[in-house]
Amino acid sequence: MTVIEMSDATPPEASGGQVAVSLRRAHSRIGLQAESWSGQLHTGVDLGTATCVLTVVDDTGEAVWVDTNATAALRDGVVVDFTAAVAAVRTLKRDAEAALGVELEHAATAYPPCVGEADSRACRFVLESAGFDQIAMLDEVSAANRTLGIRDGAVVDVGGGSTGVGVFSGGELRALDDRAGGGYHLDLIVAGAMGISVPEAERLKHESPETVTTVLRPGIERVAESIRDLTTGWEALDVHLAGGALMLPGMDSTLAARLGRSVHAYPHALLITPLGIARSAP
Ligand SMILES: Nc1ncnc2c1ncn2[C@@H]1O[C@H](COP(=O)(O)OP(=O)(O)OP(=O)(O)O)[C@@H](O)[C@H]1O
Ligand SMILES: [Mg+2]
Repeated sequence: MTVIEMSDATPPEASGGQVAVSLRRAHSRIGLQAESWSGQLHTGVDLGTATCVLTVVDDTGEAVWVDTNATAALRDGVVVDFTAAVAAVRTLKRDAEAALGVELEHAATAYPPCVGEADSRACRFVLESAGFDQIAMLDEVSAANRTLGIRDGAVVDVGGGSTGVGVFSGGELRALDDRAGGGYHLDLIVAGAMGISVPEAERLKHESPETVTTVLRPGIERVAESIRDLTTGWEALDVHLAGGALMLPGMDSTLAARLGRSVHAYPHALLITPLGIARSAP
């Protein structure tokens, strides 16, 4: 098995419109493969807290296949259920190969900013055990920026469990860190405030988001304070939101008001990091 450490170099700047088009295309590829593609295929596996996402892109970087698997194999960036994670990735790999009619041998995966060498190695072992043989590794905020292409800005990935923040200036990654706090913590707030279970809170967030936005305000403000702390000295930079947790109406404006900064949201934001991981794959 070959391990490739990826550089932090930012790809050429893409316009917000181009990013949105790529994300909408990726969303349309969930469980529905492209009929044709350009050149080689590249596979990314996002081992998230809430979901595992396998994304395949072609040489143009556009998605040809996307599939997700709900697995609680990771917590706080740590692989807590290795067997479940391997089984999830193996299933995602097999289904992608069946849909596309090709064998996917190589892949990239990403680890949260604060995860050390040992835990990031565990992510790599998951892919290796699932049958991939050449594996590229990068941090998930740099992966998100492979999709967004931000040269000067703060890229913020608010996932199921954590808020990862990367500061990019002149196309270089200048600061990288994360804090606890994501969609799961928002579920806890909704459950506590409304006297319902956490799974019911998760369902409510999806089915009638307008009923939870007021209750979630303190949770969003906490995310804003994490972003403020992790971008000290870089207050002039715009904030770009990746990850699923803030895909609720008005979250970007709540953050913008609290931070006093421009905040950019993107459609299907939970696909930003998975798409970027695939674009980083060998
Ligand atoms: N439409 C939606 N509205 C609100 N929240 C959503 C929506 N879709 C997903 N989420 C939330 O997004 C979270 C999952 O986001 P994402 O897939 O980015 O996380 P992850 O990558 O699995 O986690 P992490 O990066 O923290 O390990 C879940 O907590 C879920 O509640
Ligand atoms: Mg994630």
